[in-house]
Amino acid sequence: MSTLIVYASKSGTAKECADILAQKLDHSQAYGAANAPAPDEWDTVVLGSGVRMEKAYKPLLKYMTKHAETLKTKRVAIYLCNGDLDSFVPSLEKSIPASLREHALATVCLGGRPPFSKKPGQEWLQSDQMDALVRAVDGK
Ligand SMILES: Cc1cc2nc3c(=O)[nH]c(=O)nc-3n(C[C@H](O)[C@H](O)[C@H](O)COP(=O)(O)O)c2cc1C
Repeated sequence: MSTLIVYASKSGTAKECADILAQKLDHSQAYGAANAPAPDEWDTVVLGSGVRMEKAYKPLLKYMTKHAETLKTKRVAIYLCNGDLDSFVPSLEKSIPASLREHALATVCLGGRPPFSKKPGQEWLQSDQMDALVRAVDGK
């Protein structure tokens, strides 16, 4: 089964997660949302974005709008990278249409870097949530 990972990232966190997921998920490839292929030929689509002001980024929102009908026919998983874990649910509700959230196999918060921090390493990463997403998609 093939998996398309489509992400939007401003400071690199959501891209880092997309790259990790591309290593963990079988037959997967990651693309920035502005250059991502249409989902038509893929079995599963993972949609991911960083969050600012409790909103996912425009390139991902545009991709979701453009491919809304096709996405309803695919296996879908969603992740957000946000620094304040309490803002995950409001950010998800403001960014992802309810119909897509309800359709998704998994909606997870993978954590995020504190604003304006260039902290190295991955202490921000919610590994258990990443494992949950991988299990939902690949059954591993
Ligand atoms: C201007 C700005 C606004 C932010 N707003 C939020 C927010 O509303 N909620 C939150 O949880 N994190 C917020 N963050 C933290 C980001 O979600 C976090 O840095 C995340 O790693 C960004 O993802 P990216 O590196 O893929 O762009 C904000 C960061 C910045 C710089």
